[in-house]
Amino acid sequence: MLEVFKLEAAKQISALSGISSETLIPMLEAPKNPENGDMAIAIPRLKLKGNPVQLAKEFAEKIQKNEFIVGATNAGPFLNLRISKTLQRDLLLKSVFEQGSTYGKCENGQGKKVIVEFSSPNIAKPFHAGHLRSTIIGNFIANVHAANGYETITMNYLGDWGKQYGLLALGFGKYGSEDELLKDPIKHLFDIYVKINVDAESDATIHDQARSYFKRMEDGDAEVLSLWSRFRDLSIEKYKQIYARLNINFDVYSGESQVNEYMEKAYEMLEQKGLIEDSKGAKIIDLEKYKLGKVVVKKSDGTTLYITRDIGAALQRYETYKFDEMYYVVASQQDLHLKQLFKILDLLELGWAKKCYHISFGMVTGMSTRKGNVVFLDDILKEAQETMHSVMLKNENKYAQIEKPEEVADLVGISAVVVQDMSARRIKNYEFNMEQMVSFEGDTGPYLQYAHSRLSSIIRKADRKLDANIDLSTLSEPCALEVVDILAQYPDMVKNLMQGFEPCTVVHYSLKLSRALSACLEQLWVMNQPDHLALPRLVLYTAAKITLGNALRLIGLNPLDRM
Ligand code: ARG
Repeated sequence: MLEVFKLEAAKQISALSGISSETLIPMLEAPKNPENGDMAIAIPRLKLKGNPVQLAKEFAEKIQKNEFIVGATNAGPFLNLRISKTLQRDLLLKSVFEQGSTYGKCENGQGKKVIVEFSSPNIAKPFHAGHLRSTIIGNFIANVHAANGYETITMNYLGDWGKQYGLLALGFGKYGSEDELLKDPIKHLFDIYVKINVDAESDATIHDQARSYFKRMEDGDAEVLSLWSRFRDLSIEKYKQIYARLNINFDVYSGESQVNEYMEKAYEMLEQKGLIEDSKGAKIIDLEKYKLGKVVVKKSDGTTLYITRDIGAALQRYETYKFDEMYYVVASQQDLHLKQLFKILDLLELGWAKKCYHISFGMVTGMSTRKGNVVFLDDILKEAQETMHSVMLKNENKYAQIEKPEEVADLVGISAVVVQDMSARRIKNYEFNMEQMVSFEGDTGPYLQYAHSRLSSIIRKADRKLDANIDLSTLSEPCALEVVDILAQYPDMVKNLMQGFEPCTVVHYSLKLSRALSACLEQLWVMNQPDHLALPRLVLYTAAKITLGNALRLIGLNPLDRM
């Protein structure tokens, strides 16, 4: 709802209750039952003297009807207000039209800095479904912050350190090929990793060699580090290409390898606070008191662990960026790990420890590709593209009109994967279903892209010059006012995403808008209509395209104009 309606309502309720408008505005909500009106306020929340039901009734009688407010009633202790839908239509469509891609942005986060850490795959291991979810959900979390005015730093914390590099280096010595490495570093390193692990099953010395290799890495041995850093650089380059396909950019490529100095610093701090205990030569932190177990932070050979590096990384990030908030977008399998991490930072009495949040999510089952069960991100995207392409081919006439069908199939395929992932609450597990996600019917990515491209095509074909001052008074059909209503909800939805960070909210919103539009498009034609009907309809469709486009970009999609 546009702010002016809330301001007017708050002004009037303020005059009746003596409570300031600023206090009242956030209390104005959409009524549970839309039949009751457009805005509601729960009178008990005002904590006034007297019977709330009686007061609600009294207020309803006293509210003055004017160009903004056209009705007031009470339902028990709720005061319900009705706004002028035609005024909303005029103000809203003009405002969306003028704001374009900034429609829905808000400035609440102005001056605040957040780090969103996501994706974070492990070099030499498959980019599994958990990483895929972290990637798309994390990108969404970053977009939501940006839309709310925050300065947002996107960070990829690579799994690029640890004993597995010892194994990898040994494997590379035996099975490595320069050509293969340059061609596809991610797959080649993975193949080597698999082979050397097989060897290690029959040769126990391999693990010892790997451990001592990693020890050399941690001790800063330049020779072993140069090989490792090549693996890392080549892998990052390849990752960047894949992320670009998904519309994702990382401001920082960090990783477990990048924190050594801070890890030592963190370790000293832990010792000073008396948090370190000895356990058979290993160093541990006892978190039993908090029901979080015992945490090993240093092995008996002096090498460090995943958690140790996370403690150092957090410290480093705070000192480097002085963030106001930090989000870790990591699968629910690591709930305990992150609880331990946050607890340890808290025990170090770092004030910002309370500003670190875990964005958790459930598992995906059934994700495999034709090549097998070990899944790489580019294989998933490739398969989505191919499946999408074959679905598109079924409609021969339409297919012939698409300029670059392969590219369109790629983008729609990605939309299919993303929307399926975001269809339910984050924490739920779901089953990966290629067949279902590529369908143009149903609650899918292709359906949303189709809705967007249909609007684009109508606007393109009409080829009219539009402006924000077109007379909209003929646009009074219920289906049109319904679309306006949904468009008006967009800015509040963007703000509310900051509570709970549920991508499904945006997916459901986009589906609701697309369905309302499709009803509208059937009744309110543009082609062969006189200007006084066609132009306002085009303004409506343009505002709808802008809003749907903004919603799709929020979940990381590239809205399509042709498909
Ligand atoms: N690389 C890790 C993995 O694949 C995820 C990293 C999550 N982030 C963190 N700060 N621990 O399991």
